[in-house]
Amino acid sequence: MENRIRFVAEVVDAVAEAIGPERVGLRISPDNPVNGIADTDADILYPALLAHMADKNLAYLHVVLADPDQPLFQRIRADWPGTLIANPVLGQGPIPTDGGRQAAERLLAAGADLISLGRPFLANPDLVERLRTGAPMNQIRDKYLMYVGGPTGYSDYPTLDAVR
Ligand SMILES: Cc1cc2nc3c(=O)[nH]c(=O)nc-3n(C[C@H](O)[C@H](O)[C@H](O)COP(=O)(O)O)c2cc1C
Repeated sequence: MENRIRFVAEVVDAVAEAIGPERVGLRISPDNPVNGIADTDADILYPALLAHMADKNLAYLHVVLADPDQPLFQRIRADWPGTLIANPVLGQGPIPTDGGRQAAERLLAAGADLISLGRPFLANPDLVERLRTGAPMNQIRDKYLMYVGGPTGYSDYPTLDAVR
């Protein structure tokens, strides 16, 4: 655990030294199993990591798979003194019909300062406008196309204006 924290700390310190800590954000993915990176000890590791990071004056901490009901998320919010960005748990299925708004609002109520949304934004370049007005959401056409390079199925989704 000490070495895992040391690796992050050395990278953060080196980047902060080069460009200033106020330009450095740290993104963590507790319990995210993607590509076999699952943690075995997230409840201990992340609070220990944040204890090393809290006084570095970083621009933000960004938490992936943020669940407002999860004690670890609540602990992270309590421990992190700066800006906290939360990426809600939307699942791997279709984009929620509300574009993730309800999940986002639950995180804001749990103390997140900012919300990040990934796939809803890819499929809906005017996502903010759709969230604001409750307009219907485009769905991801083909998950595979998001990862293979080129605009098709990645950055070619229509805005509301384009289909009106
Ligand atoms: C095409 C694509 C590429 C991604 N690349 C990265 C990446 O390089 N690093 C990373 O930490 N997360 C990456 N993610 C994960 C997203 O940042 C985000 O955490 C994830 O999609 C869950 O949020 P969402 O449900 O709002 O999409 C990627 C996601 C997608 C769809």
